[in-house]
Amino acid sequence: MKKRVLIAGITGQDGSYLADLLLKKGYKVYGFERRNSQKNRNNIRHILDKINFISGDLLDEASIFSALKRAKPNEVYNLAAQSFVPESWRQPLYTSEVTGLGTLRFLEAINHINPNIKFYQASSSEMFGLTLPLQNEKTPFYPRSPYGIAKLYAHWATTNYRESYGIFAVSGILFNHESPRRGLEFVSRKITHTAVKIKLGLTKELRLGNLEAKRDWGFAGDYVEAMWLMLQQKKPRDYVIATGETHSVRELAEAAFDYLNLNWKNYVKIDKALFRPAEVGLLQGDASLAKKELKWQPKVKFDQLVRMMVDADLEKITSMYGDKNRLRK
Ligand code: NAP
Ligand code: GDD
Repeated sequence: MKKRVLIAGITGQDGSYLADLLLKKGYKVYGFERRNSQKNRNNIRHILDKINFISGDLLDEASIFSALKRAKPNEVYNLAAQSFVPESWRQPLYTSEVTGLGTLRFLEAINHINPNIKFYQASSSEMFGLTLPLQNEKTPFYPRSPYGIAKLYAHWATTNYRESYGIFAVSGILFNHESPRRGLEFVSRKITHTAVKIKLGLTKELRLGNLEAKRDWGFAGDYVEAMWLMLQQKKPRDYVIATGETHSVRELAEAAFDYLNLNWKNYVKIDKALFRPAEVGLLQGDASLAKKELKWQPKVKFDQLVRMMVDADLEKITSMYGDKNRLRK
């Protein structure tokens, strides 16, 4: 019989790659989405007819209960969240409700409806915050944003439901991962998208905040495989997923502009308004446990990732404006 999966956050970057992966593996895929997300299905446009949509919201417990009753999933992946860190200072209570308590609502519903459902929680390297690299499963947490705090709550709730009720509930502590499907507000995509617009003469500058922050950036397509592998193990446990390399925002900008034969220094302007009230300065993960137990390895390297994103933005923007000849040599 076909395995059934419920993906919360299916319209997002990770939800879309996970849906691609699980459809290929023969799963019947249910997508849990907010009613308003119907306008936001760009990432899954190519598989719309293969997904069974269920409308719901992490804020609405009843909608989670009825989604589980309808989908009868073997596996649930909770990828839904208010996931943009700066927004979490502007809307701290809302972020806690969605990103923190939303997870608890899923765990409660699973425990009541069918505790045999396997549950994946999208934990984040943002929870490590100030603690120094290399960060692994044993590293203490020190979150620096309302988002990080909400994720930490969700992380411990997942551990607690595993330990209290024996639910196969695991957290993947994923370091930053990007792709051509990344939201435009995140720094990687903001850089590749704006650099391409500059190359095409559509805009003149790129405004950024802290160029010195360092992240361990991987490719989202690689990371969703790790999520799936975690739910296929004999024993539930949490894993760090990372490349082990770290790069600054400055290096990312340099790589993207270089690839377009532009000097980033001529276009990047520092905007103090984009600095955060508290920053996570340095993330670099140690994914040796995942390598050993899940046999997982990232395939896409940093430079490849940047080039993939620039190429995809070139394709998208030129096809939107319909004139490749505007590309300045
Ligand atoms: P994303 O692109 O921002 O997607 C978030 C998804 O959550 C969207 O589908 C969004 O739907 C949905 N959502 C938001 N609020 C919701 C609500 N109240 N009820 C139901 N759905 C809601 O995020 P992502 O990059 O794919 O990341 C996936 C998950 O991993 C998130 O939980 C994120 O915090 C976490 N994470 C991401 C990274 C990373 O580097 N990408 C690293 C570590 C952890 P709409 O279309 O309705 O907005
Ligand atoms: N977004 C953004 N925009 N970030 C900027 C900018 C800018 O203009 N300028 C500098 N940065 C710096 C931020 O200060 C941060 O240090 C770094 O770029 C990365 O920012 P984001 O791409 O917004 O990602 P993030 O690290 O805050 O959060 C992402 O990764 C987390 C995992 O560590 C999100 O995907 C989270 O949902 C995820 O949990």
